[in-house]
Amino acid sequence: ARRVVVLISGSGSNLQALIDAQAHDELGGEIVAVISNQADAYGLKRARDAGIDAVVLPHREYDSREAYDGALIKVIERHEPDLIVLAGFMRILTPRFVNRFLGRMLNIHPSLLPAYQGLHTHARALSDGVAEHGCSVHFVTEELDGGPVALQAEVAITPEDTEESLKAKVQAREHLIFPIAVCWYLEGRLRLEGDAATMDGTPLPPTGMR
Ligand code: GAR
Repeated sequence: ARRVVVLISGSGSNLQALIDAQAHDELGGEIVAVISNQADAYGLKRARDAGIDAVVLPHREYDSREAYDGALIKVIERHEPDLIVLAGFMRILTPRFVNRFLGRMLNIHPSLLPAYQGLHTHARALSDGVAEHGCSVHFVTEELDGGPVALQAEVAITPEDTEESLKAKVQAREHLIFPIAVCWYLEGRLRLEGDAATMDGTPLPPTGMR
């Protein structure tokens, strides 16, 4: 089976969606390890409950980003993954790390990229008064939240929405699209070719598939 390593920092609801997809034979591979930079991440319990190797690698124990990412590379490579999945991993990655796994790393981001890169995406979308928001699965490149988009899902913002309600709506979509993108990758259909994400060999538009 194709091997997946998932990196998390928190709740791990996207990890859970991936675990559930695997349980239904819909992931196209096996999650062989979950790694968290936060010792108290709830996602670690989700991993253990699913019988998956759960590793804590606290960034505070390293002097520099380079040292941490070097240690992270070692732990990841021990598990010989075909794909590294960033599921709420709230760390900026070094160029060395990104390039080591270039074309083999997918991230989920809570906005319709290229809109709202960075943090606090729901609050920013609300305060701008935009009608459409959502989430994106993209390949990780050196450009933070700037790698080629594979798949997006939209949600409508309504006048009643709060940051919390919007986050819940977007995350429900994340849980739908992330396992699909991972499966397409593991089947060899979704790839990074040069600067573009491709599906079945066809380059995708900048906003990926929707
Ligand atoms: C997700 O909503 C994901 O889009 C976001 O963190 C959340 C993690 O939730 N990621 C980022 O903001 C990346 N910059 P989860 O731990 O419940 O999956």
